[in-house]
Amino acid sequence: MCGIVAVIGSREAAPLLLEGLRQLEYRGYDSAGLATVELLAEDGSSRLTCQRAQGKLVNLTACVEEKGAPGHCGIGHTRWATHGKPEERNAHPHRDGSGLVAVVQNGIIENHRSLREALEAEGVRFVSETDTEVIPHLISLELRALQVQDRVVNGRMLLEAVQRVLPQLKGAYALAVVWAEVPGALVVARKQAPLLIGLGEGEFLCASDTPALAGFTRTILPMEDGEVALLTPLGIELYNAQGERQQRSPSLLSGGDQVADKRHFRHFMLKEIHEQPETAELWVARHLPPDLSSDEPVALPLDHSFYADLERIQILACGTSRHAALVGAYLLEQFAGIPTSVFYASEFRYAPPPLAPHTLTIGVTQSGETADTLAALTMDAQRRQAHGEPAFAPRQLGVTNRPESSLTRQVPYILDIGAGIEVGVAATKTFLGQLLAFYGLALAFAARRRQRSLSEIASLKDELRALPDQLRSLVELHDQRCEVLANRFADTQDVIFLGRGINYPIALEGALKLKEISYIHAEGYPAGEMKHGPIALLDARVPVVSIAMPGVVFEKVLSNAQEAKARDAKLIGVAPECPDTALFDALLPVPEVSEWISPLLTLVPIQLLSYHIAAHRGLDVDQPRNLAKSVTVE
Ligand code: F6R
Repeated sequence: MCGIVAVIGSREAAPLLLEGLRQLEYRGYDSAGLATVELLAEDGSSRLTCQRAQGKLVNLTACVEEKGAPGHCGIGHTRWATHGKPEERNAHPHRDGSGLVAVVQNGIIENHRSLREALEAEGVRFVSETDTEVIPHLISLELRALQVQDRVVNGRMLLEAVQRVLPQLKGAYALAVVWAEVPGALVVARKQAPLLIGLGEGEFLCASDTPALAGFTRTILPMEDGEVALLTPLGIELYNAQGERQQRSPSLLSGGDQVADKRHFRHFMLKEIHEQPETAELWVARHLPPDLSSDEPVALPLDHSFYADLERIQILACGTSRHAALVGAYLLEQFAGIPTSVFYASEFRYAPPPLAPHTLTIGVTQSGETADTLAALTMDAQRRQAHGEPAFAPRQLGVTNRPESSLTRQVPYILDIGAGIEVGVAATKTFLGQLLAFYGLALAFAARRRQRSLSEIASLKDELRALPDQLRSLVELHDQRCEVLANRFADTQDVIFLGRGINYPIALEGALKLKEISYIHAEGYPAGEMKHGPIALLDARVPVVSIAMPGVVFEKVLSNAQEAKARDAKLIGVAPECPDTALFDALLPVPEVSEWISPLLTLVPIQLLSYHIAAHRGLDVDQPRNLAKSVTVE
């Protein structure tokens, strides 16, 4: 949610900032802005230029091209509106009254109202509705206080002013600050929001996420919570919250963190759906290698103590990640025999269940930055530590696509789903990757707990190994079929998705995908619940997508589909082609596989159907309105 970028070095800052923002636009696209500081050759003075534009980054780019933003030092921002409408006056950077201090911020300053009132009482005039605007005003006051002491005006003065302001701010944030008086310095800071510094040749780029850095450098220094840094063309000075200088070696960006490229696809989302066979292939190669020892069903980076004395699992997640968790819970309970519950992370934070002993808590978040999920995990760990008894000690695992994210710094065990960068705001290949992580866990637990026979485990592994090829054919087939079918949805206003058992979460995911990118109202239900209310919605204008895969609930789902048909609903089946499925008005065929494995295949037609409906309507599939890829606010 919101992306920030800052750069200092020997090159013009504006093009680097715009490119960095382009890579971060998935974090929000309500408005964008940048501020640069230029050293004026004539008299050695300097000047701050600020350009902002409502809407997507192209608007800011046009503005910068027309009006210019000179200087070798600057900060930039792409906004997902939290406080204040998505209008230009609320766009970042925000400045103090003199226009000399500019700040970009990602996060929420929770005590901004009281700070604002105090500043207004001192005569400060605010021009935006944002929580961020208090920061440049506070920094400006501190700078004035330092200047009164006749101190040398330099980057250290800016650093000190920021260090004095940070303890006054409550909330989670990452910020970057420039000051017109010092064209050769900028200051960045973070608290519970991500920020990474990229080290180039005599230049530094700081950003909220790795894609903004990948085209600039592969050498990065992730900032720790509470740290603040002074960046000059000569180097970085890093301090912790207590003001102590920190020394750390940088690390290298992993190969998966490439610069986003759409290739020949019309949208990133379509490209990412097409990349799913590769996601599965990599997962199989990594976790089901041919040389696995016979007592190890799957290769996972988890040691013996992780599995020991485990009695139950709770999973915390939001959105699509929660749907993956629901499939995971089904597998962990039904295949591996461990009682498992799934919680909305945002609900768990304020209403956790009573503490139970020997519990593994799994946080699922593709971005590794979702504020609700991270806070729910922190709260769970704190409650368990406070309990004191060893049986209640925190035991946490994170499932993420971003092993360099905040999640990794928070939990001891990580499953990296390795899906590569996902740019489309609607999660697709990361959903598949999360599901696969749960298949790995279910195999590991089932084998250790002797819950399944060797042949059952071997047969699930064989099916997983066959998955990449099956996905390849399915993606090709349904890309065409769904494009044709999407024509029928031109006037559709409501869609119902039905599934049962292990495919119920796929119905939820189908409804979520359709809602978020096509703005069509959609609901996912366990098919058996239809008759308890939602059936009242059905008529010839409401299509029903029914996921019916052979297994324990196959006939039941088909009967529920019949009930919908009897109310004139148009039926779309995600099901194998067979006499039983002839009742569907349109069939999106899926091969007949074991029920265990079926969600990994049924997800393909529901993703492509949503994609083509939205694309057919000419909508901005990759950047749907009001959404952001990484939800770093509560
Ligand atoms: C849906 C979608 C969101 C995310 C949710 C959690 O396509 O992308 O529902 O799944 O915001 O995000 P992560 O997985 O980053 O925690």
